[in-house]
Amino acid sequence: MEVVTTVQEMRQAVARARAAGARIGFVPTMGALHEGHGALVDASVAECDVTVVSIFVNPLQFGPAEDFHKYPRDLEADKAFCQARGVDFIFAPSEKEMYPEPPRAFVEVEELTAGLCGAFRPGHFRGVTTVVTKLFHIVMPDVAYFGQKDYQQLAVIRRMVDDLNFPVEIRGVPTVREADGLAMSSRNRYLNPEERRAATALYRGLTAAKALLEQGERNADRVRQRVREELAKEPLVREQYVEVVDADDLSQVSYIDGRVAVAVAAFVGTTRLIDNIVFDPSAERTE
Ligand code: PAJ
Repeated sequence: MEVVTTVQEMRQAVARARAAGARIGFVPTMGALHEGHGALVDASVAECDVTVVSIFVNPLQFGPAEDFHKYPRDLEADKAFCQARGVDFIFAPSEKEMYPEPPRAFVEVEELTAGLCGAFRPGHFRGVTTVVTKLFHIVMPDVAYFGQKDYQQLAVIRRMVDDLNFPVEIRGVPTVREADGLAMSSRNRYLNPEERRAATALYRGLTAAKALLEQGERNADRVRQRVREELAKEPLVREQYVEVVDADDLSQVSYIDGRVAVAVAAFVGTTRLIDNIVFDPSAERTE
């Protein structure tokens, strides 16, 4: 495994692999890697000849009051994690390498970024789509892997790639959870033991929603209400939103007659967590 820190070296390494006929898989991350990232890496290693993992805490996607400076960074542990899973290249550029000048060009996906997390994190998705575009232009992967855990991000990237004809296939990977259901996240390490216990309310709420949907409930407000009830049982949990949205365009749904995502964001103490499930009434299957 090689750790590459410059755009030029990364381009050269990928060009060599591609000249040898390799299919390139790419997993963009912000590091502090856990088993959720691991599932993306495993999918890439299984399906591609060469796997590139980027590790870059992207300042452009953090708001001024958010956790950019305290976001966990542990490149040595991340290297060992990637090495053990068969990654070929880590791309770990500095901030200066990615943004030598204050950026003046941005990529923006409209509408899909207006609701859910976009409503509470202005500029966040513009930061994500801009850095992912840059990373795609640097790595030029055949396939890129994103987690369903960040459902809106996955939908926004898919739309960007479709609308702008990016020559890359996007693969969504199911959410990896702790034994008690909490979705794995780099931010879980901010939680103290009490908060860690309370954080399971998000998944409990989504599980209750899933049970309602599988019993045939199609009224979105009643599904949202069921999630809210579970969140409200935990005094340490403060709901930010609970929404039922169209699984593709993320528009709000009132009657459920197609694939939907039930998405939740909540603060547990000062830590903001998100989670979601996808329900397809025709398949009667919940992811
Ligand atoms: P990060 O939060 O590090 O996540 C990197 C990828 O791992 C994302 O696609 C995310 O959805 C996925 N992931 C995180 N936790 C997961 C879990 N429990 N199960 C499955 N997949 C999981 O998302 C970002 O970084 C950034 O916004 C990025 C795309 C790298 C752009 O900066």
